[in-house]
Amino acid sequence: MGYQDIYKSWQNDPEGFWMAQAEAIDWVEKPTKALNSDNAPLYEWFADAKVNTCWNAVDRHVEAGRGNQTAIIYDSPVTHTKREISYFELRNRVASLAGALRAKGVEKGDRVIIYMPMIPEALEAMLACARIGAIHSVVFGGFAANELAVRIDDATPKAIIAASCGIEPGRVVHYKPLLDGAINLAKHKPNFCVILQREQEVAHLEEGRDYNWHGFQYGVEPAECVPVEGNHPAYILYTSGTTGQPKGVMRPTAGHLVALNWTMKNIYNVEPGEVFWAASDVGWVVGHSYICYGPLITGNTTIVFEGKPIGTPDAGTFWRIIDEHKVKSFFTAPTAFRAVRREDPTGEFIKKYDLSGLRAVYLAGERADPATIEWAQEKLNVPIIDHWWQTETGWAIAANPLGIEELPVKLGSPSVPMPGYDVQILDEAGHPVEAGTLGAIAIKLPLPPGTLPNLWNAEERFKKSYLNTFPGYYETGDAGMKDEDGYLYIMARTDDVINVAGHRLSTGGMEEVLASHPDVAECAVIGVADELKGQLPLGFLCLNSGCGRDHDDVVKECVKLVRDKIGPVAAFKLAVVVDRLPKTRSGKILRGTMVKIADGEEFKMPATIDDPAILDEIATSLKTLGYPAS
Ligand code: COA
Ligand code: AMP
Repeated sequence: MGYQDIYKSWQNDPEGFWMAQAEAIDWVEKPTKALNSDNAPLYEWFADAKVNTCWNAVDRHVEAGRGNQTAIIYDSPVTHTKREISYFELRNRVASLAGALRAKGVEKGDRVIIYMPMIPEALEAMLACARIGAIHSVVFGGFAANELAVRIDDATPKAIIAASCGIEPGRVVHYKPLLDGAINLAKHKPNFCVILQREQEVAHLEEGRDYNWHGFQYGVEPAECVPVEGNHPAYILYTSGTTGQPKGVMRPTAGHLVALNWTMKNIYNVEPGEVFWAASDVGWVVGHSYICYGPLITGNTTIVFEGKPIGTPDAGTFWRIIDEHKVKSFFTAPTAFRAVRREDPTGEFIKKYDLSGLRAVYLAGERADPATIEWAQEKLNVPIIDHWWQTETGWAIAANPLGIEELPVKLGSPSVPMPGYDVQILDEAGHPVEAGTLGAIAIKLPLPPGTLPNLWNAEERFKKSYLNTFPGYYETGDAGMKDEDGYLYIMARTDDVINVAGHRLSTGGMEEVLASHPDVAECAVIGVADELKGQLPLGFLCLNSGCGRDHDDVVKECVKLVRDKIGPVAAFKLAVVVDRLPKTRSGKILRGTMVKIADGEEFKMPATIDDPAILDEIATSLKTLGYPAS
């Protein structure tokens, strides 16, 4: 069957389609029903099943005789380390860690925060939680203590699992002091912490609260897999919204298993036993779905890569790994390719390696610009597949499903909706628009299995953020269009979220931090176009009248403040002091117009602008920062 037939078969019988896909999962108790609509517009899939994620991702492969197959390859150019972990070994390590967590009182439904770099133990910690039905929440290492504290207070974890340090090129990231700082800041205190002491830095452990990863497993009974209900949350992953308070996206256990399992063959075109590599980070949704769960659920070998596309040691790292570990399907962010291309435009490093085993490359996380795709197509000579999804969905909304059929690639489009997603382009009144017309991208409810059923502890916010604008639809927050062939084009966000190097960040969150500076009276943060990272945040600061301070000093303090409060990942380095901000007569800051000026794009003078002369002042200030870039 081709893509059209499969998509139609889902449209004709959505529940039957997903029940059939559910056959691939090992259930403790099979679901009797696919969809539960009792609480619409909140939906649940396979709610009455009993299942365990860790069993499906690890134990069942050992039972099926795949125990000796490599489950995880750890390749860390920053520590000069390579290691392989078989499914058999992974089962034992995860069972032991889960047993130790249980012995310290962690039970089904308890939250556990994981704050770790790209090491196999991060996956083991996630799987150990899944094994005992604990709900993990992984926090990306590039966030500062304050962001970690916000997540601790929202998730109220019983335990935190962390590493002593992470390694960024040229510096050691001191995770443990960040963790201690976060616990100090947070109102909620975990009962205990488990710290993996890395060779690169041994951290101080606080007596009575912190346990050594290895030591605390001594003598414990390994844990068996605990069956959980199909709608039990597998994890919470925080993502940026319009304010500084991140949204806790919940992932339901059964739908997650069924959906990810479906994607591995149908989208990524890999068979059990083959090597799949997503060069992302476990702190992001790509890392959850395609470094940890997806490949392991299907019995692939996954790669944990601790390094960067360039500089660790060079722009050939991706190609070395693909050659050395025989990667069949490779997933990365367009930014990473832009970085490689900038260093090695003619692909000299590519020529050094045997990439004949590579079948396809997948890009997501931000818009894939046609020039980058064309470069990759020419240099790698395999399909380069752009696909579009979000933390909220957990898997691709639109893709080119190579395992079903290779559809023609259209540059600038992540191709077509996947089964489960009825994607519509709506006008402001919520009516579908014609092909070729821009609008808000919405998905008809219910969303498919594996997508978020709710936000953690924030049902009203869930409804307000996603369901209320277009009743009967999920609002994606992206704007774009569909063409006559049903291909989607994702053009921009409709909210205050920007995308920096494939990382989703809230300009509203940065504004909250800047506004806390004692000399800042008012501020605005916008995302300006950047050749490498897609977008960069840029701040406009209005100082308190009579402040009299040197502008450069205030800018420096503000840059440091964002780094200290949100973290280096915000990449906030551009800011300028202005006298006033352009606003509508009702007082709304015209951020969109400022973006157009910074990007050197044509813009229409907003009819409601209070004082058009301010736009000239903004343009002059932007010039001092080198915008628009030539
Ligand atoms: N822990 C601590 N700090 C981190 C971090 C982590 N896990 N990840 C990034 N940072 C820091 C970086 O060290 C950098 O700090 P600096 O300002 O002191 O230099 C800052 O956060 C910004 O990092 P990054 O966005 O990675 O920029 P970069 O200039 O270091 O590297 C790229 C540029 C293009 C190589 C890099 O952005 C990249 O690999 N992007 C791909 C992103 C990706 O895979 N996204 C996943 C979505 S699928
Ligand atoms: P995240 O939740 O961090 O995965 O970010 C999701 C957002 O990134 C989406 O809502 C889009 O704005 C953007 N995004 C992800 N993938 C793509 C893509 N293939 N094309 C365009 N934008 C994308």
